[in-house]
Amino acid sequence: MKKTRIGVLVSGRGSNLQAIIDNIEKGSLSAELAVVISDQADAYALERARKHHIPGVHVSAKGYKGRRDEYDALLVQVLQKHHVELVVLAGFMRIITPTLLKAFPRRVINIHPALLPSFPGLHVQKAALEHGVKFSGCTVHFVDEGMDTGPIIIQAVVPVLDNDTEDTLSARILTQEHKIYSRAIQFFAEGRLQVEGRTVRVRDGADKSGDFLTNP
Ligand code: GRF
Repeated sequence: MKKTRIGVLVSGRGSNLQAIIDNIEKGSLSAELAVVISDQADAYALERARKHHIPGVHVSAKGYKGRRDEYDALLVQVLQKHHVELVVLAGFMRIITPTLLKAFPRRVINIHPALLPSFPGLHVQKAALEHGVKFSGCTVHFVDEGMDTGPIIIQAVVPVLDNDTEDTLSARILTQEHKIYSRAIQFFAEGRLQVEGRTVRVRDGADKSGDFLTNP
């Protein structure tokens, strides 16, 4: 079967990218990494791509201040050149515009380190600790025009412990991110995601994603 071609957008260390690479190499995720794109020249994620012989492209945002849609048009060009079918945002620190969303309708997904709709935006682990929540986690969702507002595909829950710091909570959440992102991509690749309004249903299928199952 033809593998879904994914394009991963990054800005930094790329640990989620690495988890996707590892799962593809292990054979537990059936997708092909077509390209990794970074808005930062020195993103370690680009280095990870190179090490695994995946095309890595730096698309500089210099000169595009206040012209986000023009920058996104550049991203669309690179993604289309590499025949990308699913756009995976993995720590990409820019707001996506309709220019990208229209080119990839219901084909852009993101991972967020909180249980949406709680704590959208940035510095969310700190915000969760300050709020005193007892559980946090992570969310994979389709991207829409809002900030972290699109239909939710999968979430994983982690406890917040009394002695947690931003770092310890972030690390516990990240471990789950690395599992559920590949799982969501596998569902997409198997054509099993059905969006009805805000609700995403996962159609039955031969579930090859058990490796990523975190919250039974
Ligand atoms: C992750 O916590 C992800 O949820 C958020 O940005 C971080 C990226 O980490 N969107 P990494 O670059 O994948 O290590």
